[in-house]
Amino acid sequence: MDAENTLAKIAEDIRRCQDCELAHSRKNAVPGAGPANAEIMAIGEGPGFHENEQGLPFVGASGKFLTQLFSNAEIPRETVFITNVVKCRPPNNRDPQEQELKACGAFLDKQIETINPLVIITLGRISMARYFENARISKIHGKAVWRDGRLIVPMYHPAAALHQPKLRSVIMHDFAQLKDLILKEKERLAATAPGKNKEDETTQLSFF
Ligand code: URA
Repeated sequence: MDAENTLAKIAEDIRRCQDCELAHSRKNAVPGAGPANAEIMAIGEGPGFHENEQGLPFVGASGKFLTQLFSNAEIPRETVFITNVVKCRPPNNRDPQEQELKACGAFLDKQIETINPLVIITLGRISMARYFENARISKIHGKAVWRDGRLIVPMYHPAAALHQPKLRSVIMHDFAQLKDLILKEKERLAATAPGKNKEDETTQLSFF
């Protein structure tokens, strides 16, 4: 099965999933959206009201801001695969609980394995915690780290700017640096592992 069909199958399984409480209150599951060969994947927290209505990620107020952030970074949003750590809306937008994260984790793992993105942007502290245990987002936001051949970039959640106006310029600054940061890290990777990078260039869509 090719990546597109595999992703469609994962999405189908997500829409049918009954593995946690969130399945009972959802209107629509939100598997994620974007190209199957995306070079960049962005992982948020969980669907909110509008996402639950439409079955699509980041379509509400924070989604509009995210679109603007990617556009300012000269990375078209439609080149990025956008998803969440949980695929169904937590009631009243509460934080996803441990067992919900666990139940949904296998879907996210399969999506990452299928898309095989070079870059993963985590949006917010819950998504960040998948890669940086016990880290503080205020300390590590905007700083990239290589993990198992992927560049992980922890970012503040776009909703943080809507709730704390002081963070708006911080988030905008982090995204403004994103393209340069990725380019520099790709160059560094090419210098240290030319074979690996060649393979990446032929198999992954580049947005540059
Ligand atoms: N917030 C998220 O974390 N994800 C969405 O899809 C929408 C809002």
